[in-house]
Amino acid sequence: MKKLEVFGVSKLKGQIKISGSKNASLPILAATLLSEKKISLTNVPQVKDVETMIKLLESMGSKVKKIRNENSLTIQNNKNMKTKAGYNLMSTMRAGIIVLGPLLARFGKAKVSTPGGCSIGVRPIDIHLEALKCMGVQYKIIDGYVHANAKSGLIGAKIRFPKISVGATENLLIASCLAKGQTILSNCAIEPEIKDLTKFLNSMGAKITWIGKRQVKIVGVKKFKEVKYKIMFDRIEAGTMLIAGAINQNNLKIKAIEPNILKTEINILKKVGAKVIKKKNEINIQGRVKIKNINLKTSPFPGFATDLQAQMMVLLCKANKKSVIKEDIFENRFQSVSELRRMNANINVKGNKATIEGNTIFKGAQVMATDLRASASLVLAALSAKGKTTISRIYHLDRGYEDLEKKLKKVGAKIRRIN
Ligand code: EPZ
Repeated sequence: MKKLEVFGVSKLKGQIKISGSKNASLPILAATLLSEKKISLTNVPQVKDVETMIKLLESMGSKVKKIRNENSLTIQNNKNMKTKAGYNLMSTMRAGIIVLGPLLARFGKAKVSTPGGCSIGVRPIDIHLEALKCMGVQYKIIDGYVHANAKSGLIGAKIRFPKISVGATENLLIASCLAKGQTILSNCAIEPEIKDLTKFLNSMGAKITWIGKRQVKIVGVKKFKEVKYKIMFDRIEAGTMLIAGAINQNNLKIKAIEPNILKTEINILKKVGAKVIKKKNEINIQGRVKIKNINLKTSPFPGFATDLQAQMMVLLCKANKKSVIKEDIFENRFQSVSELRRMNANINVKGNKATIEGNTIFKGAQVMATDLRASASLVLAALSAKGKTTISRIYHLDRGYEDLEKKLKKVGAKIRRIN
């Protein structure tokens, strides 16, 4: 089982180029099921979850050709595809559920394993299923599989999501592209990755128009055209690296990004005292000796991203006073706390609130990754800790960060992968 070994305290200085977005790649890859035409994607991150999604598509009959060193690939589907998504792949990557919408839209039937929970929460799919029902889908859940069909194809409908859900918004956005007539989706998630999915679908010939802050209109079409599309930058990797820059008076230039998408994170980092200089496609961030405390709560975009909560917790351990973080999206997303405590952090969790006492001098320790973003927070703490830290179960990290240790080594981190 691979581990990461990190020697701190690392002084980070230099440039980090951000990879393509995992959370834009996954829905865009699922959306390719809508089309029989050749699709070329560039700036695709080489991370485990993307590999799993590609395997899922190939298991249904997609022909995927990877051009490894350029993070590019081409996808070609044909008329008769399998419409089953098996448990073995779905259980390792919950986002696989977003193949349900395109399969139903294109083939009128699908047998998709329910994704199963993960360490941060139960990950239900009720919002996806209830919304698809409004479009004429009938389904039954038997032995952990969703057996769904839409005999006369999907019918455009007016649907209001009861709760903001990234995955459900993506599933319905994709499905509506091939539905008969017009669909209006309201109370949508508006993460930048969803806007990237919209741009991709429209470049294929879909007719999607955002008509309100959280409202979108889709007019169903019958066919799509060949397309070449560049995936947006990874907003959460960029946020993770910005937080790294704010710790220990580091000085990082984060490149290949769109700073305006990170407005919330930039404002928070400025509030805690970091020096932030924005340029067209890069941000320079310098950490300050004095880090101020701040109270935060996670919320759907454009609020503070739940995917950066664990990373921010590490920065606030270094603040001069107490901070409180409220996790309002997932029910169990403070997994990194017990591991950070092993590194001398002083954090107390009560329900969905974590109180971070601040003034922490991190000490190297043996710790264990529990989920993707918690593992990133352990790397940040290890870089700021005196001595050696060993992080086990780093397969969690590999799900969503491309070449993380290579990028950090380049700016001065003493970090390596060991068995
Ligand atoms: C997406 O997950 C992201 N994953 C997550 O990133 C991210 O944390 C999350 O959105 C919130 O921003 C991808 O984009 C691949 P949701 P998703 O549906 O779509 C509840 C990472 O680290 N809910 O917006 O699963 C759900 O339980 C990952 O990259 C229902 O109740 O998130 C949660 O409490 C982790 N019923 C809340 O809504 C449903 O049918 C938000 O979930 C669906 C969701």
